[in-house]
Amino acid sequence: MKSIAIYNNKGGCGKSTSVINLAYEFSANNKVLVIDTDGQSNTSRFFADDPKNGLERVLLGESEELNAESTRYDNISIITATAAINNAVGTFGGFSEKKQVQIAESIVNANGEYDYVIVDLPPAMNVVTEHIVGACDFVFVPVELGTFSIQGIPKVTSVIAKCKAQFGGAFINKFDKKNSADITLLKTFAEFLGNKALTTAIPYSKVIKNSISYKTTAREYMGWTNAGKAFGQLADEIGERIGE
Ligand SMILES: Nc1ncnc2c1ncn2[C@@H]1O[C@H](COP(=O)(O)OP(=O)(O)O)[C@@H](O)[C@H]1O
Ligand SMILES: [Mg+2]
Repeated sequence: MKSIAIYNNKGGCGKSTSVINLAYEFSANNKVLVIDTDGQSNTSRFFADDPKNGLERVLLGESEELNAESTRYDNISIITATAAINNAVGTFGGFSEKKQVQIAESIVNANGEYDYVIVDLPPAMNVVTEHIVGACDFVFVPVELGTFSIQGIPKVTSVIAKCKAQFGGAFINKFDKKNSADITLLKTFAEFLGNKALTTAIPYSKVIKNSISYKTTAREYMGWTNAGKAFGQLADEIGERIGE
């Protein structure tokens, strides 16, 4: 089992989009569990028609079960989150450190029933998300190219270190190959991150944006396009990095 968290402290850089599409790509040959920890429920709504407080119940010990729901995808299950997760943060924060670690690990390990566990996160960390990230094997960071976002990467990696998690690498999302500034920033990104820069860049594309509105992944929507294939490439690269 491999567990991966997708994190960046910036909203809108593509965390949820990446979680949804990576889960789909990995599910071709693997059993995948998606854990949504964001009270905005974007990923939960993609996979479940009516998201419940799945994560909250396991966090607070209200359920012995993992509370994973099956989805319309045979190989993907999800633990959903709703806004109620924010109420659970205080209670969870009152538990001993040992208990917090133990609960987070049991959620992420998921009884060993899955090949991949993929965690979606809100931009701002809290005691719950810190422990969930800490229980993951690796954290990958989507970056929307920009001078400020590249300068912000050390802040992101310091948050990952604070969670006692391992930074697996960063990848570019919303890459615009027609924009010369993006070409320059791509080089800066690669130099800045060295071997932590993934080579796959996810293009800025209507295929990716619109697919989510139709409740499909980019590959299901237009798998013959470059954008439709991009997350497959990313999943392969991540799989290789973390040693499939
Ligand atoms: N590669 C892409 N091309 C076009 N639109 C994208 C791409 N990635 C994400 N988006 C869009 O950007 C917005 C923010 O993405 P989202 O995954 O919700 O970010 P986050 O979870 O980090 O807040 C959404 O409207 C999404 O459809
Ligand atoms: Mg999101």
